[in-house]
Amino acid sequence: MSSATVAASDLLDWYDRHRRRMPWRALPGQAADPYRVWLSEIMLQQTTVAAVVPYYDRFLTRFPDVAALSAAGEAEVMQAWAGLGYYARARNLHACARAVAGAGGFPDTLEGLRALPGIGPYTAAAVGAIAFAIPVVPVDGNVERVAARVFAVEAPLPAGRAALHEAAARLGRDAAARARPADFAQALFDLGATICTPASPACALCPWREGCAARRQGIAADLPRKAAKKPRPLRHGVHFWLTDAAGRVLLRRRPPRGLLGGMTELPGTPWREAFWPAEDALDHAPMRADWRALGEVRHGFTHFELSLTVYAARVATIQAEGWLAEPAALDGEALPSLMRKCVRLATAA
Ligand code: ADE
Repeated sequence: MSSATVAASDLLDWYDRHRRRMPWRALPGQAADPYRVWLSEIMLQQTTVAAVVPYYDRFLTRFPDVAALSAAGEAEVMQAWAGLGYYARARNLHACARAVAGAGGFPDTLEGLRALPGIGPYTAAAVGAIAFAIPVVPVDGNVERVAARVFAVEAPLPAGRAALHEAAARLGRDAAARARPADFAQALFDLGATICTPASPACALCPWREGCAARRQGIAADLPRKAAKKPRPLRHGVHFWLTDAAGRVLLRRRPPRGLLGGMTELPGTPWREAFWPAEDALDHAPMRADWRALGEVRHGFTHFELSLTVYAARVATIQAEGWLAEPAALDGEALPSLMRKCVRLATAA
């Protein structure tokens, strides 16, 4: 790896002119609220800023501080989170809020932050740098990419991750970076999101264009390199849209632990690698009825792809485990995104 030939002050000058406005960011010269920073960081894991902003705004209106969040019921928190995915994060969020409210505030050290539920090394570094000005560089995908390019790190991910963390830490050792840790971290995020983008980086606009090793070598767009991925396996499931004479639909709650734990769903089969022929699937239907297949819904999880077939039937009265909801009131249920896709298919039919 070549030595650092970029200056933190150039990036910070650029940030002072081009910083993006985000609802959780403090205004220049003001201290950030640890609750807002923490909440935004948990929401931003695996999700884009554009997708997070409406959830964040609604969440903050409903739970304006850590005391309000810790006092809320689990169902209310899950409902406000529904649609963001990765529901274990919502449960950890709630557990973390309770721990922080109980302790009288967020800890202001990396070790203290790391000890909280749902806070790993990245989140501890992000909250530490942004809310408490700890001189540390949080390394997310954006920062990995910037570091890979500045130093022309060629080791492919995921094995190359350690080298990229070392490269990012090296960027942060500059005295100007250590003087403004919150701005330096967020400047790296913004550079990665707006200039040093994955496919076609806008190098001509980059404050680090002169010192960037990958740009000199003409390989910026190729970094970071990635090892070939295994294809995700495909799983199959069937879910049932059962309505009664009044048009109400049957819902149930998923088991509390595991994938989408505690979320609301249409009753259905387990998800498995083999396709479900109708006669097998109907063994899992909530009631005997005149079931009709409506079509297929696709959803990607981190480790597998899911194909769901939706079956529909209408009966006079529903006698099955779960509860009945008006289709018009489904927005208020903790339905994850894949279930919303099923609902859309059923209500469009
Ligand atoms: N990604 C994660 N945290 C972020 C932040 N504070 N600003 C922009 N992008 C981010």
